Amino acid sequence: MATTNARTTYRICTLPGDGIGPEIMAEAKRVMATIGEIWGVELVCEDHLIGGAAIDATREAGVAPTALPEETLEAARAADAVLLAAVGGPKWDTNDPAAARPEQGLLGIRKGLGLYLNLRPVHVFNALRGASSLKREVLNGVDIMIVRELTGGLYFGPREVEEARPGAGEDGAPGRWRMDGCAYSEHEIRRVLERAFEIAETRARKRLCSVDKANVLGTSKLWRAIAHELAADHPTVELTDMFVDNCAMQLVANPAQFDVIATENTFGDILSDEASELTGSLGMLASASLGEGTSLFEPAHGSAPDIAGKGIANPLAQLLSVSLMLRQALGMPDAADAVEAAVEDVLDDGWRTVDIADETTPAENVLGTSAMADKVIERLRV
Ligand code: IPM
Ligand code: MG
Repeated sequence: MATTNARTTYRICTLPGDGIGPEIMAEAKRVMATIGEIWGVELVCEDHLIGGAAIDATREAGVAPTALPEETLEAARAADAVLLAAVGGPKWDTNDPAAARPEQGLLGIRKGLGLYLNLRPVHVFNALRGASSLKREVLNGVDIMIVRELTGGLYFGPREVEEARPGAGEDGAPGRWRMDGCAYSEHEIRRVLERAFEIAETRARKRLCSVDKANVLGTSKLWRAIAHELAADHPTVELTDMFVDNCAMQLVANPAQFDVIATENTFGDILSDEASELTGSLGMLASASLGEGTSLFEPAHGSAPDIAGKGIANPLAQLLSVSLMLRQALGMPDAADAVEAAVEDVLDDGWRTVDIADETTPAENVLGTSAMADKVIERLRV
């Protein structure tokens, strides 16, 4: 089944980060080594610091603490692909607006690599229908591609902090005040929606739901206007608009109606966490961030500090991110298919991590992080 690739060596910039990040990255590396053996390619992984781990390391080195050291960004730029696990944790949570935060590493690398397009495929594995809190029949036919704008909007807008703004306290007294501004340019919206239309064109149902809050927000009005301008160039795609609050409700009421969902940064962040519950667990959702520079692949979940170090984290979103990387950045669609099929088979065989187990799962089928990856590797080898 293995096909020969023109290139034999790929450089992967691996960013384990924080919390469960190092645990799930270790499993991704084992799977990549297996892929390398089977497909006759070398996936050379090189770890770099990001997030809280980078803040600690830079502080220890006596330089200004940063969640994204310059050398990490340079290594990412020079690599064929970036594979990230997760960043963040209570250790670095502080109210000090000036303190370095792990999330700045993630936002910084997205911005630094120009990764404006984030794809989050919501695929419901048959075997996992029982793992979702939603009724099985609601999950019939669910296959959604969430296209999220990734380098604009509230996340990157103007910010202001005032500790004693006149009138912001009680009875007109000075009080704390903060502002996060949401801004979008035509160019930023257009490049994301163009890709969303193109993606919809490749899919069987060819439906694009553009999600906004155009009844209130100016940025959303612009988003909607551009979506309709682009529709004329993509006559085979059926475009609909939906307000984000309604979309949040429809995603749990009737998720099968959606094909491609395109939306701005903050809405996409929230809706993709919500949609992950359709798959049974946030631990199942992979993502690809594409744009100008090296593409980056990461699970949509966070660093889960509550279970870090316990060896029970679900590695599948990380492994599915490897699959997206093989497909989108390394031109190895067969290997990508094989990883997805291996994950599907392992789930069909009844193996679960604790987050995707349900009351019908026998205790002995509930595996830890490494044992789950072992099952995927075994399947890849058959
Ligand atoms: C995600 C995460 C990040 C985001 C956080 C960690 C900054 O929630 O990738 O969805 O909000 O983009
Ligand atoms: Mg999120």
